Amino acid sequence: MVATLPGSSYTDPEIFREEQRKIFESLWFCAFRTDELPGPGAFRTVEIGTESVIVVRGRDGALRAFLNICRHRGARLCAEPEGEVRRTIRCAYHAWSYDLDGRLAAAPNLARMPDIDRIEYGLIPVHLREWLGYGWLCLAGEPPSFEETVTGAATERLGDPAAIEHYHVDELALGRRIRYDVRANWKLLVENFMECYHCATIHPELTAVLPEFAGGYAAQYYVGHGAAFAERAEGFTVDGRAGFGTLPDLSAEQDRRYYAITVKPQVFVNLVPDHVILHRMFPVAADRTVVECDWLYHPDVLASGADLTHSVELFHRVNEQDFDACERTQPGMSSRAYRAGGVLVPSEHHIADFHHWVNQRLRR
Ligand code: FES
Ligand code: FE
Repeated sequence: MVATLPGSSYTDPEIFREEQRKIFESLWFCAFRTDELPGPGAFRTVEIGTESVIVVRGRDGALRAFLNICRHRGARLCAEPEGEVRRTIRCAYHAWSYDLDGRLAAAPNLARMPDIDRIEYGLIPVHLREWLGYGWLCLAGEPPSFEETVTGAATERLGDPAAIEHYHVDELALGRRIRYDVRANWKLLVENFMECYHCATIHPELTAVLPEFAGGYAAQYYVGHGAAFAERAEGFTVDGRAGFGTLPDLSAEQDRRYYAITVKPQVFVNLVPDHVILHRMFPVAADRTVVECDWLYHPDVLASGADLTHSVELFHRVNEQDFDACERTQPGMSSRAYRAGGVLVPSEHHIADFHHWVNQRLRR
């Protein structure tokens, strides 16, 4: 048997702070949907680790990200989570204003300050990439390879780099978003997502559609393996009724199957024939994680006004069942019973890999 991380890993604010620095502020972080910033001037702010980042669409249509901090005396530039700026981003303190590309555009008495260079005193850029219709940010000076650490996760899991492309996730539209405020450490959520040992106990609706999950071995167990739908299940819905057909480009093998991908540190992607469910975790404290879960559909499905209830309800229940389990576990992390941790059964070997990864990131 393999030991887990000790309980303190899930409760100690200092360890959480270290994870913020060495994981969330160092790796690619899936922050927002790109269609949430429709036109020039649209912005949103997002918290990553201890930093606030502003993402804005420029007049050239490109998305850019900057630290949400004024270069003058450090005031937070945008206090609102989202909105639209007209021409510039203006600091509310002494009115320095910045172009949408980050350059210092104007400041009171700027003409009398010849040594202020507009680029040097412009906003500090944050690395940004787009994938699956989401904006991914990295606060590191030199980000890790996006191909290796982000898109590579899908390739590693599905075996074939083209497999995820068949879903054209970046062309899907947001059908529903549910936000969960989970009173548990982010690692408990990752660990839960990585194993299916719990599926038979807590996920009756899911195992009805995916019977092999009742056996305890997750779809993530084998490279390229997707869990087959039960014969009587017509679709990936809460009661097995039909969903919305099959996305146009899927291979025959991808139809009637469920695939799950973990993109460390904070994204889960679930692929089913007629939609995609994407979870993003926002770790807030050692014992609290906000999860935004998006249900993405072909735009035609949404345009038809179809009722998504039975489709959304399946994974919404799974989420509630999973997060309930995580919340049930969190208090145990500070019990003396868990000081030395717990144990992993063989079907949880992905969790051992994850713990190894965490320890490496924290250089333990
Ligand atoms: Fe922003 Fe002074 S702190 S203008
Ligand atoms: Fe689960």
